[in-house]
Amino acid sequence: MEDIKPKDKSSYIPLSTLTNKAKQTGGTRKLYVETYGCQMNFADTEIVNGIMGNHGYTITDDIEDSSVILVNTCSIREHAEAKVLQRLTELKKYKKNNPGMVIGLIGCMAERFKRDLVKKTKVVDLVVGPDEYRKVPELIENIIDTGEKGIAVRLSKVETYDDIVPLRKEGISAWLSIMRGCDKFCSFCVVPYTRGRERSRPLEGVVAEVAQLWRNGFKEVTLLGQNVNSYASSGNDFADLLRECALAVPEIRIRFTTSHPQDISMKLIETIAKYDNLCNYIHLPMQTGSNRILDLMKRSYTIEHYMGIIDNIKKIIPDVSLSTDIITGFCTETDEDHGMTLDIMDEVKFDGAYMFKYSPREKTKAWEMKDDVDEETKTSRMMDIVELQRVISHEKNSGLIGGKYDIVIEGVSKKSDSMLTGRTDGNKSVIIPKNGTSIGEKVTVKILKANSATLFGELVK
Ligand code: 5AD
Ligand code: SF4
Repeated sequence: MEDIKPKDKSSYIPLSTLTNKAKQTGGTRKLYVETYGCQMNFADTEIVNGIMGNHGYTITDDIEDSSVILVNTCSIREHAEAKVLQRLTELKKYKKNNPGMVIGLIGCMAERFKRDLVKKTKVVDLVVGPDEYRKVPELIENIIDTGEKGIAVRLSKVETYDDIVPLRKEGISAWLSIMRGCDKFCSFCVVPYTRGRERSRPLEGVVAEVAQLWRNGFKEVTLLGQNVNSYASSGNDFADLLRECALAVPEIRIRFTTSHPQDISMKLIETIAKYDNLCNYIHLPMQTGSNRILDLMKRSYTIEHYMGIIDNIKKIIPDVSLSTDIITGFCTETDEDHGMTLDIMDEVKFDGAYMFKYSPREKTKAWEMKDDVDEETKTSRMMDIVELQRVISHEKNSGLIGGKYDIVIEGVSKKSDSMLTGRTDGNKSVIIPKNGTSIGEKVTVKILKANSATLFGELVK
C-alpha cells in the first residue's frame, strides 16, 4: 500500500452530520493525532477520531493545543519505524511543558513492540494495537486517574469497527476500510503479525457508508484492505461488493487498493469494466519479475500467471491504468533476477510504481534468510527501476496529450493559487487553470502537456 503524506489542514466534517458525544459535551479534551504509513493507517486514524469524538474529545490540528497526542505508526520497513522513534524524542518537549499530557503510540509499531515501547522511548504512556482502538478512551482515563501505563495489544479475529462512524476531514476523496488483516504471509511482510487475521465488514455497512459519504459531499471513495480480493461477507465476494456500491451510489467514483494477484478474478475485472463509476485503475503488486524470487517471497504466483492477469485486464478494460509495488534487493537476488524485473516492467508498462529496498523484518520467514544483497547494490538496482519507471510513466503520460478526460477537482495546485488539481479515472493528476471551476466539480479537460508525474490541461468548453 502506498505511503502517503498528511493531508492539508482542512476542517473536520461538521459534527451535525455525525452522531457523537463530543458535540453534546462541547468536547473539553483535545486530541491531536499524527499518522504515518499507508492509507489504511489514515483510515484507522479517522476511526480512532470517531471513537474519541464519541467520548467527548475534540480533534485538533494544533499539537500545542492538545492534551492527548497519539502517533499512529507503520512497521512495514525499518525506515518507517526509525522515523517514528525519532519523532518521539521530539515529542518529549510537549510533556515537559505540560506534565498532564498523555502520549500514546498506536498501530503496527504498538503491536510489534508492545510494552517494550514504554521502556524503549521513555515518553509513551499508552500502547494500543490496531484491533484495540475501542479501549483508547478508558485507558487514557486510567492513566489520568492512576498514572498506570495503558497497554492493549490483543489481535482480534472479528473486530472490523463496522459500527464506528469515522471522523473525517471535509474533502473530495475519502478512504473506507472494508476489511482488516492479512492471511497471505508473504515471507518479507510484517503485516500479518501486526494486523492479524483477515476479516471483512458486512456488505450492507460498507454500502451504507459509501452512500453517507456522497451525502456528506465526497465525490470519490477508495475501498481499502491489505488484500481486498479476499473480501468475503455472507457469500458475497469483492466483485459483489463493488457492484453493490456502484449501483447504490452511481455518482460517486469508486477506487480500491490493494490487490493480491493470486485472488484477482475475471468476475472482478468484468465488474470494473461494466460500471462507469468504478475507476479503470488497478494497483497490482508484482514485487519482482523473477520466479525464483517470487517463490522465496512466498507470493504464490508465477510471473507467467501475473502476466496472464495483466493481459486479461488490458483486454477487458482497454483504457486501464496499472500500478505496482516492487521490492529490490530481496535475499539472494542476482543481477539476472534484477534484469527480469526490468524486463517485466518494460513489457507491462505500468503507469506508476511504488518501489522499495528490501528491509528485513523480525518474525517474518525472510528474517531467517540472509539479507545478502549489500546496501550499495540495493541502491543501484533501486536507481535502475526508478529511472526505468520514470521513462515509462513519461511515455504513457505523453500518449494522453491531445485526449479529453473527465477529472474531479480536488484542490488548489501546490505550485500556484491560480491553478487547480484533479485526477482522472485512471488516477493521474492533472493541473488546469481555475477559470471559474471549483473544488468538487467533475469537468472534462483536454491534455496539453505531460511529464512523468503530472498532466497539464485546459477545460473543454
Ligand atoms: N521491505 C521492503 N518492502 C516491503 N513491502 C512490504 N514489506 C516490505 C519489506 N520488508 C512493500 C511491498 C508491499 C508494499 C506495501 O510494501 O512491496 O506490496
Ligand atoms: Fe503483506 Fe503479502 Fe499481506 Fe500484502 S499480501 S499485506 S505484502 S503479507
